[in-house]
Amino acid sequence: MSFSVSIEPSGREFHAQKGETLLSAALLAGVALPYGCKDGACGSCKCKLLSGKVSHNAHQTKALSEQEQAQGHILTCCAVAQSDVILHCRQVLDVNLPLARKMPVRVDQLNLMAPDVMQVFLQLPQNDAFDFIPGQYVDFLLKDGLRRSYSLANAPFPKTQDPNTAQSVGATHTLVTKRYIELHIRHMPGGVFTDQVFGSLKHKDILRIEGPLGGFFLHASDKPIIFLASGTGFAPIKSMLESIAASQDASLKARELHLYWGVRDLYDLYQHEWVKEIQKQLPQLRYTPVLSEPSEASQWDGRNGFVHLAVLQDYPDLSAHQVYACGAPIVVESAKTDFMSQANLPIDEFFADAFLSQKDKQ
Ligand SMILES: Cc1cc2nc3c(=O)[nH]c(=O)nc-3n(C[C@H](O)[C@H](O)[C@H](O)COP(=O)(O)OP(=O)(O)OC[C@H]3O[C@@H](n4cnc5c(N)ncnc54)[C@H](O)[C@@H]3O)c2cc1C
Ligand code: FES
Repeated sequence: MSFSVSIEPSGREFHAQKGETLLSAALLAGVALPYGCKDGACGSCKCKLLSGKVSHNAHQTKALSEQEQAQGHILTCCAVAQSDVILHCRQVLDVNLPLARKMPVRVDQLNLMAPDVMQVFLQLPQNDAFDFIPGQYVDFLLKDGLRRSYSLANAPFPKTQDPNTAQSVGATHTLVTKRYIELHIRHMPGGVFTDQVFGSLKHKDILRIEGPLGGFFLHASDKPIIFLASGTGFAPIKSMLESIAASQDASLKARELHLYWGVRDLYDLYQHEWVKEIQKQLPQLRYTPVLSEPSEASQWDGRNGFVHLAVLQDYPDLSAHQVYACGAPIVVESAKTDFMSQANLPIDEFFADAFLSQKDKQ
């Protein structure tokens, strides 16, 4: 038995089996509903139920408050159809998402870019297509069914380019000549996976991933874009910037772009020079690094404080902007709340991936 699910205003439709979450059914059908944690913790998959009935599995109230639930909002990662349903979700793409697949990858390079940030290049299987949309992430499949998610930091391979010679725009590496993906991984001491990355992981090790995953990507519009990166939340934004620079789409290349990168201290701006380099290809890209805890030794004379407050200082009115925010959950949540309440950012123009850890999901 299945129910039909329609998404307004895109008009996209799919079927959900009995007991299946709306998000799982959408992703199986290739319909790009927005999502993040798939676990009722981040709120990225929030949609409005226009008609029909759903049952709702357990979720965190920070992802969906009682008030929002009373107003008819649901989390598609937790909602199961009990009848045919119609949802309102402006953030659905017209195109299908690339299908996620499991595959082995080989560690190609490990570069320490900051005291606690590792740039990891993973070599993909030969002759195995791996298509993704900038902003998406992959999951590492670990022992005992554990998974850990990391955003893709490079742009997808151009369709016309031989993937065996793909090179990252302005990348600092020179040796990567095979199909690869790039990740930026922050060490969380005591963490199951990042202790391994900063301890025993070495060149040529084989890992298993599943991807591409996630519903964080650029949405067509002519509105100016604010990119808000916190820490390694820079990774998917780098992928987006790299793909905009390589794009042949004149309207995309014409968009105003302003990157805010919030970190603790100067050494955390681990690809500061990369941003300066890509600005030569994207002259409309403004760049504002913001340090929350600059040490005296850094002799920092740039912006200080919380990165999302720097955005509010510069843009007291965000009603005609799109915002793409990524990284520490507290930064993403604060930005969403304050941008909407203090700067009139429309809810449909805030796109985000919060880097929730297992602890955040409990
Ligand atoms: C969509 C998405 C994309 C992401 N992309 C990135 C990325 O590009 N780069 C990146 O660096 N991170 C990213 N993350 C975060 C990443 O997935 C991991 O959560 C993070 O790296 C920690 O993994 P871990 O296995 O090392 O730590 P975990 O084992 O998950 O532990 C995390 C921390 O919590 C502590 N801890 C664990 N359990 C408990 C407990 N019960 N009580 C108290 N403390 C506890 C650990 O000591 C550790 O410090 C992303 C997350 C999501 C959801
Ligand atoms: S709450 Fe549904 S994807 Fe995070």
